[in-house]
Amino acid sequence: MRGAFITFEGVEGVGKSTLIEFAAAHLESTGRIVLRTREPGGTPLAEAIRSLLIGECREGMHADTELLLMFAARNQHLETRIRPALDENRWVLSDRFNDASYAYQGGGRGIDMERIRFLECFVQRGLQPDLTFLLDAPLEIGMRRAAMRQRKADRFESEAMFFFERVRNVYLERASLEPQRFRLIDASQSLEAVQAEVRKKLDEFIAYWEELK
Ligand code: TMP
Repeated sequence: MRGAFITFEGVEGVGKSTLIEFAAAHLESTGRIVLRTREPGGTPLAEAIRSLLIGECREGMHADTELLLMFAARNQHLETRIRPALDENRWVLSDRFNDASYAYQGGGRGIDMERIRFLECFVQRGLQPDLTFLLDAPLEIGMRRAAMRQRKADRFESEAMFFFERVRNVYLERASLEPQRFRLIDASQSLEAVQAEVRKKLDEFIAYWEELK
């Protein structure tokens, strides 16, 4: 049996990074070997593509170019890091994965979802996350937290509020269509409450995964 593939999604500022560290520590405390990674990125080449994607682009990046770069980075990440780790029975925790392409490129940029599905089939060849935590909070909360970061906003963070509204709506829509994979977490609660909920949902998932063996 391979390891489980768990992803964390949500708009900027909802606290994904802190929660991934928490989830990884919890899984490690149960003796599991964990790979923490992120998208776009996760390998040197995919991180180079990430820099192109989030950095300033003077000529303006066409939405399809952005989508193709996301999936090019995803392909490298999957083939050289994620699949090998899962095959070695490691648990992979990724800060974002394919749902982000539907939310940001589909919802945010307005690309036809069928074109995204086409690339998803090509690159993922049936591999989907086994479990996805969607951290959700009213946009003002996330935006306020993201604005407190001590650096210049990247290409995505500079988008207008209605861009993030569309992103959030697509995330919520996907979560309601796939309730068996998604765990919707109210990220506006206190950190302790969010962590307690994630720990409980992880424990339930571990029990389910063990039964599959
Ligand atoms: P991060 O802020 O979580 O590090 O992610 C970088 C940005 O990349 C974030 O604004 C969301 C965006 N993104 C997409 O637009 N599509 C994708 O498929 C992924 C993985 C990320």
